Amino acid sequence: MANFDLRDHVVLVTGGTKGIGRELVLGLARAGANVTIVSRNQEQCDAIACEVRKIGRTALPLAADVSNVSEAKRVVDETARVLGKLDVIINNAGINSVVDALNVNEDEWDRVLDINLKAAFFWSQAAAMVMKTNGGGKIVNISSVGGIIGENKMAAYAASKAGVISITKSLAREWGRFNICVNSLAPGYVRTEMNDEALQEEHIYKSIVSTIPLRRIGEAKDLIGPAIFLASHASDFITGHTLFVDGGRATGVARL
Ligand SMILES: NC(=O)c1ccc[n+]([C@@H]2O[C@H](COP(=O)([O-])OP(=O)(O)OC[C@H]3O[C@@H](n4cnc5c(N)ncnc54)[C@H](OP(=O)(O)O)[C@@H]3O)[C@@H](O)[C@H]2O)c1
Repeated sequence: MANFDLRDHVVLVTGGTKGIGRELVLGLARAGANVTIVSRNQEQCDAIACEVRKIGRTALPLAADVSNVSEAKRVVDETARVLGKLDVIINNAGINSVVDALNVNEDEWDRVLDINLKAAFFWSQAAAMVMKTNGGGKIVNISSVGGIIGENKMAAYAASKAGVISITKSLAREWGRFNICVNSLAPGYVRTEMNDEALQEEHIYKSIVSTIPLRRIGEAKDLIGPAIFLASHASDFITGHTLFVDGGRATGVARL
């Protein structure tokens, strides 16, 4: 099990205050990592940092908007300065947008693509600058099953996540020579603030579950094991890969 041990690893998690990101911060800290926590809300970053410290790890809570490209270098450099290095970045911050394709306007398109795709690229770039001088690292991009199969009323979101899967492959090809592994986790439906309201509607819930072979909606903690795998030495010869964490939903969306 030593290969899965994250002791002495420094991990940066964007969107680390809620939902999937929050569970990843706590799960990775329990696996031994010291963690930089990023979201737009400093108080919420501070609150998760307190939980990390209770686990016995070091936490660096830094508020930043990931769509602001200059913030990536500031946060990565601050992480390296305070925590000593950067081994892993998890590009998890993201937003949803549910709008009929006929009504998507340019501002909404740009907002979704900036936060979900542009940020994943530029935060990876800032992290890679530090990792390449340290002998390597791991980049884990949170994409989505929607990036592969498309989603009704979520054209911009699905396009952003398809882009995340694409940059995962391109960056893996380009940065393999620096011993930087770039992979992606593609969640299916996971109950978080992002979709809790929709999932409260019984007909929506039932119709989604009817397309999932494992017959349930995911929980944020379902992502912890796969994230530890991709962040740790256990996955040292895996790069450019997208791992679906979706109860089997990506096999097809027809009712079972
Ligand atoms: N839930 C699902 O079913 C599902 C399925 C597939 C993929 N995903 C992906 O998984 C990731 C996490 O989703 P989630 O469901 O856990 O979402 P969530 O509960 O809404 O949490 C999103 C996190 O991202 C942060 N964030 C959002 N915009 C940001 C920005 N511009 N700058 C910095 N931080 C920002 C939020 O904090 P602030 O708003 O305070 O900044 C929050 O910490 C996303 O990339 C999402 O697309 C989710």
